[in-house]
Amino acid sequence: MQGTHAVIYLPNLRHNLDIVKKLHPIDTAICLAVKADAYGHGAVAVAREAESWGVDCLGVARVSEARILREAGIGIPILLYSLPMPDELEEALLLNLDLFLGDSELIKSTARKLTDLKARHPDMAANHRANVHLKVDTGMGRIGCQPQEALALARSIEETPELSLRGIATHLPVADGNTQEHRDFTRNQLVLFDQVVNRLSDEGIRPPLVHGLNSAGILEYPEFRCTMVRPGIMAYGYPPGKHQQHLANLLPVMELRTSVSYIKEVPPGRGLSYGHTYVTPDLRRIATLPVGYADGLFRGLSNRIQMTTSQGAAAQVGTICMDQCLLDLGPGGSGEHPGVNRYDQVVIFGPKAFESAQTLAEKLDTIPYEITCAISKRVPRVYRD
Ligand SMILES: Cc1ncc(COP(=O)(O)O)c(C=O)c1O
Repeated sequence: MQGTHAVIYLPNLRHNLDIVKKLHPIDTAICLAVKADAYGHGAVAVAREAESWGVDCLGVARVSEARILREAGIGIPILLYSLPMPDELEEALLLNLDLFLGDSELIKSTARKLTDLKARHPDMAANHRANVHLKVDTGMGRIGCQPQEALALARSIEETPELSLRGIATHLPVADGNTQEHRDFTRNQLVLFDQVVNRLSDEGIRPPLVHGLNSAGILEYPEFRCTMVRPGIMAYGYPPGKHQQHLANLLPVMELRTSVSYIKEVPPGRGLSYGHTYVTPDLRRIATLPVGYADGLFRGLSNRIQMTTSQGAAAQVGTICMDQCLLDLGPGGSGEHPGVNRYDQVVIFGPKAFESAQTLAEKLDTIPYEITCAISKRVPRVYRD
């Protein structure tokens, strides 16, 4: 394919999932985050691949994301990582999503909504229950109950015939940090969570899925006892933070490619692209590429990245525009111009390129998640097996 597209290497996804599996006891379930269009990789294709690999559950952030997966025939459990809005609840239940709950209002409204749905949908089994996971906030500060509220809420879920307590969960905000403070904080969270799980167990409440580890937790705290893990970024080939780089041989799944749409020689002293942020120092051979910030190539990377051509690295020069940018192919001059030609492919980032989502993220003082998520809808995803 010519033009800008993202190649998604499915064998790399499987390789990364194998790593997740090996880090924990064999019967530990895996809930793969496929929210945000599988971090930009294409949720349906990733979900299909993950389902056939043997992933047990998929994590989404919006009911609309789950709808797309169900419409594509994905049948495994889908866990909604955010709280449903009142106007999403009905669809969430019709799609048979697993829900995080952490307050009595949502427990009641979910039960009421299911009762109401059963009255309107006679085909729904009378004993059908909504699968819920009690979310305990041990330090993320986003959603979930306080640890001391967990037992009462778990009891209330157990006493609600419309609900089935399938899991208990927490989330780690600083598991990727390597300071003593971050390590102590995460260990305390895991101890606190363990105490909550044991307290419930002492009362006879034992949800089958106990889960608290995201990619950072999976890599840094594999000793933590749980029955399900929730990887995201590591499945897509990147460690969650720079301190986890040495912990696993992850393979990036996405490669962003484009092709040269035009080549010209530019004399010295010529300003190029908006703002003339690059001025040719001498006679240069300049390629135009049909990729810009509307594709997800952030403007903040202008004049700061190397792209990979068949002849090696070439510097991106000038301001990255909405739909196009420029590449410096080296000195111009008379005679032959060996090397890169019009319509040749150029790799912007990927598993074998000079840049990765990690290096681009570092240049922008952000995380690889933001780089892959930003690759926009108009960029076709091409799947390679
Ligand atoms: C609740 C929850 N679990 C797991 C994950 C996966 O996180 P990561 O991509 O860092 O592995 C996320 C992602 O933000 C999340 O919100």
